[in-house]
Amino acid sequence: ANSATAVADSRGGFTSRTGFILAAAGSAIGLGNIWGFPTQAAENGGGAFLLIYLLMVFVLAYPMLVAELTIGRLSQQNPISALRNLASGTLGKRFASLGGVLGVCALSLILSFYAIVAGWLVAYMLAPVFQLLGLEGLASWFTEFSVSRNLLMMLVIMLLTIFVVRDGVSAGIERWSKRLMPTLLALLVLLAIYILGQPGAMDGLRMYLLPDFSQLSPQMLVSAMGQAFFSLSLGVTGMMVYGSYLSKQENLPATAAVVAGLDTFVAFLAGLLIIPAMFVAQQNGVTIYAEDGSLLSSDTLVFTVLPAMFDTMGAAGPFIAIGFFALLTIAAITSTISMLESPVNMACEQFNQPRRKMSWLTGAVITLISALIILNFKALFGLVITATTVYAQPLLAMLYSLLLMWVLKRDRLLKELQQGNPQLEQTLFWKIWPAYVKFICPLMILLVFIN
Ligand code: PFF
Repeated sequence: ANSATAVADSRGGFTSRTGFILAAAGSAIGLGNIWGFPTQAAENGGGAFLLIYLLMVFVLAYPMLVAELTIGRLSQQNPISALRNLASGTLGKRFASLGGVLGVCALSLILSFYAIVAGWLVAYMLAPVFQLLGLEGLASWFTEFSVSRNLLMMLVIMLLTIFVVRDGVSAGIERWSKRLMPTLLALLVLLAIYILGQPGAMDGLRMYLLPDFSQLSPQMLVSAMGQAFFSLSLGVTGMMVYGSYLSKQENLPATAAVVAGLDTFVAFLAGLLIIPAMFVAQQNGVTIYAEDGSLLSSDTLVFTVLPAMFDTMGAAGPFIAIGFFALLTIAAITSTISMLESPVNMACEQFNQPRRKMSWLTGAVITLISALIILNFKALFGLVITATTVYAQPLLAMLYSLLLMWVLKRDRLLKELQQGNPQLEQTLFWKIWPAYVKFICPLMILLVFIN
């Protein structure tokens, strides 16, 4: 019992509501918002996708976010123990733990590809720096696809992530989220203002904000749902572990609403930057459409179209490029931090080991997986992305909501949600949410998924 208490005491936690909100928003706000959302919107009828996405976030993803945070805070333990505690009976507990293990595995795999992509962004941020220094050879090494560059850049991201997670929840994650998130927002707003002032930007704005409903399709619903789940970091225990560090005094539904709101707001802002930027690029003579009339793929957009546009911007070009890739890098790192935290916390508590040691060990294992993907890029990269984001995330989110609502006693749940929110029983949220998470969410996920 003593060692269990020692571990529980050494868990730490967020020291303030703002700290938690910035860290959870940091997890949520990532490449999914700044890269994924705008390019999906551009491909799927602009404003129409935006509307469907908003619907998906608030109807489907937000209730799931509350569910995952509640599971975490209820037990104040790592995701596997948290889920095991929800279930009853030996079989039930085994099943619940398995759900936790699968979530942590899926999350580690997400980190292993995400770190590769984040590494490319660092490379593209460094290239214009070397260009400014007159080191053309080095600049082009960073922008050329090679195994050695990919390995080196991935390693940089993994090391930065490990350094933050190693220092713990308040001294590492909370402290860095408080520094990085305001920087991210400032960069995003400044870049969007700059781009919106360039010729051609208004065409992009029109495409983004005027809905084209002729493109509505079941496929678009699936894309919007996947995007919403990925963006809110759902289904893979990332939010569960952050919830486990949240003070019992905080109002869960309200805090989750702020996190979901910030995440959606940043995705919307990123649309104001990226979609107009595509049209500015076109105005400046850069091709943005493929031969069949569809938009170029989203990676071509980020790594070819936008850099080509920065090149046309004269003296300001390299600085805009550095700012743009710094923005993406920061967004990525606050997300990779939350991805590493869950396996590290699990390793610490399941094996009763110190955080520092487990941060290095877990980080090393994920770095190895990532290296394996880089060395077998063609075979593995796309496969890992599809397996984790298209299949694992929605299915596991469904499993967690089922566990929470079908297995847990309603009064225990009510008590947990009332902590920090004594008036909850009188709110519409309380009247709707339980039945909603129990019946409607799983059904909707299933329907959209089968589609
Ligand atoms: N939400 C992040 C993004 O939008 O890029 C990705 C992510 C972070 C997914 C953390 C899952 C996770 F647990």
